[in-house]
Amino acid sequence: MTGRQLVSDRGQVQPFRVMQMLDIVHRRAREGKHTIMLCAGQPSTGAPAPVLTAAEESLHASPLGYTEVVGDRDLREIVAAWHSDTYGVHTSADNVVITTGSSGGFVASFLAVLDHGDAVALSCPGYPAYRNILESLGARVVNLVCDESTRFQPTAAMLEALPEADRPRAVIVTSPGNPSGTTIDPAELERIARWCEDNDAVLISDEDYHGMSFGRPLATARQFSDRAIVVGTLSKYYSMTGWRVGWLILPDELVTPVENLQASLALCPPAISQVAGRAAFTPEARAELDSHVERYRAARAVLLEELPAAGFTTMAEPDGGLYLWLDVSHVTDDSEAWCHELVEEIGVAFAPGVDFDPINGHKWVRLTLCAPEEETREAIRRLGEYVRR
Ligand SMILES: Cc1ncc(COP(=O)(O)O)c(C=O)c1O
Repeated sequence: MTGRQLVSDRGQVQPFRVMQMLDIVHRRAREGKHTIMLCAGQPSTGAPAPVLTAAEESLHASPLGYTEVVGDRDLREIVAAWHSDTYGVHTSADNVVITTGSSGGFVASFLAVLDHGDAVALSCPGYPAYRNILESLGARVVNLVCDESTRFQPTAAMLEALPEADRPRAVIVTSPGNPSGTTIDPAELERIARWCEDNDAVLISDEDYHGMSFGRPLATARQFSDRAIVVGTLSKYYSMTGWRVGWLILPDELVTPVENLQASLALCPPAISQVAGRAAFTPEARAELDSHVERYRAARAVLLEELPAAGFTTMAEPDGGLYLWLDVSHVTDDSEAWCHELVEEIGVAFAPGVDFDPINGHKWVRLTLCAPEEETREAIRRLGEYVRR
């Protein structure tokens, strides 16, 4: 026995504070206390009806053993056809790899393109798992600090302004963003894609929230570069979070390396979810899913109307996705403690900003658009009353 600690340096990633908030919500439920949840990034709805039917049928129709490592061929064809039709690009099923949620796609694609010590540029605020996975893999995160001036999204000009030592091997963009809910304008995405090609950086475009737009156009990075990696998922628009299916659309050169990595990391994504997931792309499923987007739009309208009335005037107005990023600096400089106070005092759960922004997140919180309209209104009414007290 050397007494050496069991955990490695790479094993010590930051906790996901949103999940800690969920634990509090669950504890309160056990104590008989209701909480209005504006903290978790998941639809409150289940999978669309055609998926449920297909899942029931597939349970008895086949042994549901391992699928192909790169995923069920039919689902790959369906994703490729949907991507081609939606964005007017040519996407071959050969370039689609189905993954275990998009989260599985991040691990495989980061391993495929990055060596130890490589720099990766990403927006701050941004989705915390990128940072945690990258740091545990030994990559170096370069923060592109974003504020109101670019609607919390990175630009090609920010990449161009990076010092030589921080020139990235990969750039991650997320549109619509988490936590910002804002989109990158197609023309800016094209400039970022150009910059990446000119500077030998791999563009990784997280398009998990596509399908959820409140009016602004959404472009795929593959419209501008066939060297870009596109990431997608059934978790968000398709309302299938726990089914754990995502996909990568890869440049030719990366398909076999990602296949080989996935073979060792996961063998294959979940079989039943892939087989049933084919039905998520049918017109019947889409009609159901589009009605959810209308509910998110309604929750967004409530927040944009009620938050200023409650005294919260600085925020990122969501263009799509599931979130609103809110400045709370006039009431606290410790948004984590404030969120804990709110959940206990008024029964409303927000996500503390520090998860998403290690630099300025203590002054921000993230709200979701997932709760029913009336609950959202009630949450902001309670908030307004609380801060006036
Ligand atoms: C921006 C973004 N990317 C990826 C994910 C991971 O989603 P999943 O692994 O369920 O596809 C999330 C989940 O919240 C997210 O917000």
